Amino acid sequence: MKKLLALLLVLGLIAASCGGSDESETSTDESTDDTTAEAADESTDESTDEGEEAADEASGDKTVVRWIFGGSASDSAQELESTFEAANPDIDIEIIQGPESATDLLGTYLQTFEAQSDEIDVLNIDVIWPGDLAEHLLDMYEYGAADVVDAHFPAIVENNTRDGRLVGIPFYTDAGLLYYRTDLLDKYGYDGPPATWDELEEMAQTIQDGEQADGNQDFTGFVWQGNAYEGLTCDALEWIKSYGGGEIVSPEGEITINNENAVAALEQAAGWVGTISPEGVTAFQEEEARAIWHAGNAAFMRNWPYAYSRSQSVEDDSQVVDLFGIGPLPAGPEGSPAATLGGWQIAVSKYSANPEEAARFALFLTSEEGQKINALNDSLLPTIEALYSDDEVLANTPFFADLFDVFTNAVARPSTITAPNYNQTSVAFFNAVHGVLTGETDAQTAVEELELDIADITGLELAS
Ligand code: GLC
Repeated sequence: MKKLLALLLVLGLIAASCGGSDESETSTDESTDDTTAEAADESTDESTDEGEEAADEASGDKTVVRWIFGGSASDSAQELESTFEAANPDIDIEIIQGPESATDLLGTYLQTFEAQSDEIDVLNIDVIWPGDLAEHLLDMYEYGAADVVDAHFPAIVENNTRDGRLVGIPFYTDAGLLYYRTDLLDKYGYDGPPATWDELEEMAQTIQDGEQADGNQDFTGFVWQGNAYEGLTCDALEWIKSYGGGEIVSPEGEITINNENAVAALEQAAGWVGTISPEGVTAFQEEEARAIWHAGNAAFMRNWPYAYSRSQSVEDDSQVVDLFGIGPLPAGPEGSPAATLGGWQIAVSKYSANPEEAARFALFLTSEEGQKINALNDSLLPTIEALYSDDEVLANTPFFADLFDVFTNAVARPSTITAPNYNQTSVAFFNAVHGVLTGETDAQTAVEELELDIADITGLELAS
């Protein structure tokens, strides 16, 4: 009960104090259970009009709809909020900025759902969560989604459908990409970005040595997501898949992680820590990697499309404006490049006191108009195919067209087959990978232990 009260209090505090669009320092905290406190920390320095909104609610003038999301700062959120409110004067949207890490955000959701709290109405859910969270979410088909789903990529709609119920409407999709410095590739005599991880290693080392010798001691070859959280599951799946090492658990439900290609991939990645990547990479999430890149201090970065608009932002003082390219991640010796499929959906909590108004907002966020705001401000990939031929969108982010194949062929994490135990499976996976990166465990032992852990968690069979 105490825990529940604390949670409600923290959520109340967040709602009262947060503007939702902050560039606050990111947390490298590895714990996953301190989520609400972290969320409050991240948001208390923002003061906005949410106090007034609480007053509106009290006076009963408007219906308050609370919208929570995680991740890093979103430039689109304020515009989405104000555009919707202008057209819906009976509704006040309150933004709650949740924890940055997807793993921590899930913790916040689970606590709120466990309490059956109506403090959250509309929530962003990760592409991997429909199966784990379905029981707490409304069926959007009952709130008008049937008229709009056909405009979205069918595979994502299918991913969000559980027992015929649409538990989230697609908001944006995501795929892992390689960012590379075109000026530095030129300077060191390379024709183009690396096609394999071995080439990336060689280029990163050469450029790092050269830039450090030129006096930039902060320069590093390659930044990525090595902290023990969902982001590491994404990066490690890319290494393993690109080595021909499978997808942890196959779509048919066999646990495949214990194989020699997966071991080789993990060994190679462990070799980057403290050589072409800083020692601290094992505590990096997306934003720590991006900060180094943004300052002009990395030759290569693995990140999602959101980093494009920030890297091109003169106002944000990016040191790499017009100095970089983006493309597919490198391939392993046996495989071809792999990008992990990411992305977010808009869901409505079953415990919402105002489901009609919440659903109206969900339909707006995921509409062509809403997704265009995301694309133009934050280079987030639409799930509505028509926007990939929108002139304004293409002029702003030409890579949407260039990399269309990468986005549509991205590899899914095994969330459908392991549901409702995907999160536990992923936690076991990223902890095992983290142990290999930090040298606590060797890769072979890690995958042998991991396959047994995943069998315990899911009840699935090991591949023979
Ligand atoms: C991005 C992806 C999401 C993934 C997360 C990991 O937000 O869209 O799917 O789980 O990164 O950090």
